[in-house]
Amino acid sequence: MIPRMAVSASTGTSSTALPRFPGDFLWGVSTSAHQIEGAAELRGRSVWDAFATMPGRVKDGSTADVACDHYHRYREDVALIRDLGVGAYRFSVSWPRVQPTGAGQVSERGLDFYDRLVDELCAAGVRPVPTLFHWDTPLVLEETGGWRRRDTAERFAQYAAVVAERIGDRVPTWITLNEPAEHTLLGHALGEHAPGHRLLFDALPVAHHQLLGHGLAVQALRAAGAGHIGIANSHGPTWAASDEPADREAADFYDLLLNRLFADPLLLGRYPDGIAEILDTPGLDADLKLISAPLDWYGINYYQPTLVGAPGAGPEEFSGVHIPPELPFAPREIEGRPRTDFGWPVVPEAFTELLLDFRDRYADRLPPLIVTENGCSYEGIDDQRRIAFLDGHLRSLHRALAAGVDVRGYFVWSLLDNFEWAEGYRQRFGLVHVDYATLERTPKASYAWLREALRAQR
Ligand code: BGC
Repeated sequence: MIPRMAVSASTGTSSTALPRFPGDFLWGVSTSAHQIEGAAELRGRSVWDAFATMPGRVKDGSTADVACDHYHRYREDVALIRDLGVGAYRFSVSWPRVQPTGAGQVSERGLDFYDRLVDELCAAGVRPVPTLFHWDTPLVLEETGGWRRRDTAERFAQYAAVVAERIGDRVPTWITLNEPAEHTLLGHALGEHAPGHRLLFDALPVAHHQLLGHGLAVQALRAAGAGHIGIANSHGPTWAASDEPADREAADFYDLLLNRLFADPLLLGRYPDGIAEILDTPGLDADLKLISAPLDWYGINYYQPTLVGAPGAGPEEFSGVHIPPELPFAPREIEGRPRTDFGWPVVPEAFTELLLDFRDRYADRLPPLIVTENGCSYEGIDDQRRIAFLDGHLRSLHRALAAGVDVRGYFVWSLLDNFEWAEGYRQRFGLVHVDYATLERTPKASYAWLREALRAQR
C-alpha cells in the first residue's frame, strides 16, 4: 500500500541530501504501548489510567482509552512503517495487557496481540524492537508500593521471561526499560506523571529498583536465549547558566541526576559519589553487579540540552513542569533558539556534544550506541519545521560518527501522533498525523522527506 500523502511533492526544506551513513546503520521509528494502543478494556489498568482520572493531571482531561487504536489498526501502522523504508520498529509491550495484575496470571489474549504484531512486522521485513517497560506499571502493583518496593524488580523480571518465551523466537533486539530517569523524576519525585508521587529525593529507591529490575530482566532474557539487549535512557548536555560557582554546582547536580544516576551504575558498576550513602540499601554491591552486567548496546533518547542555574532565580514552571523551590538547581530558558510547539529549544549541535561527551566519559566501558528516540512536537501536516529538526539532528549525529563515536542506529520519536502523557493529545510528535475523531492516519511532509532521505542512502 502506498499511503496517501498530505503534501504530494514536498520533500522538505533541505535541498542537500544527508551525508552517507554506514550501510548497516539501523533506521527505525518508535512508539509506546500506552501512548498508541487504546483497547483499554482488553487489558489490566495501569498507573496512567488512574492518573488520567485525577482532575487536572492530564492537561486536556483526556485518557488513553482509545488513543490511536493501534491495537485494532496495527496492520495499517505496520504498512506505514514498511512503506517509510525503515528497517526497525521500536514499540513497547504493555505489562498490564500481558499480566493484568503485574504478577501471576498471564493474559493469553494480551500475548496474542504482540504475537500478531511481531508476525506482521516480520512479514513486512521490519525488525521488531520491543521495550518491556514504558511507564505503564500495572495499577495493582502500584497499590502495594509499585517501584518504591524492591520486589517489583523481581515481578518485572518474571514478566520479561513470559514475554520472551512467547515472542523471543522472532525478536532479535530487546530494550528493558524506557527512561527510568524521567519515570523517577516526573512520576515519583515531582508528581507530574503517573503515579503522581511528590517524594523529591525520597524517590531515589525508585531509581534503584528500576535499575535492579533492568538487571534481573537482562538475566531472565539471556536465560530465555535472547540477545542484543539494551536500555533506553534519556540524556542531554547540561550547561551551567554562568561561571559562578553556585551555577556550576547546580548544573553538575542536574547532570548527575539526568546523565549519571543511571548510566554510571549500568556502565561503571557504581553510583555517582554520595548516592550510595543516601540509598543505604543492604546488598548494594551484589545489586550493582547485576545492574552492570554487560549490555550489547546502550540506547540514548535525546531531545534538548538543559541550561541550569542555582536555585531561587529560575522560573517556577519550566516546560509545563512545576519546579519546587527545595530543589538544589533551577532550569533556565535557553534564549535565541527556535522552539518546538512544546517550547523545547532546538539545538542540534548539542546532540554531537552529548555523544562525544558520552564516549569521553565512559570510554571502553561504553557499548555501541543506538539513538532510541529523537523528535519534536509540531502542529500541522505540512511540517517543514519537523523536517528541519530531523535534518539538523541527523547531520549532528553524523558529525559524532565521523569523530569516531560508535552509533549503530537512529529511531525517530514517533511514528504516530499519540497520547503525550500529561499533555494529553496537545503535543503532536508523529511523522504520521492522527485525526483523533476518525482515527484516520495521514502521513505528514516529514514522512515523505524521511522516506526520500532513506531511499537516497540505499
Ligand atoms: C518518552 C516518550 C515521550 C517523548 C516526548 C520521551 O521522554 O520516552 O514516551 O512521548 O519523550 O515527550
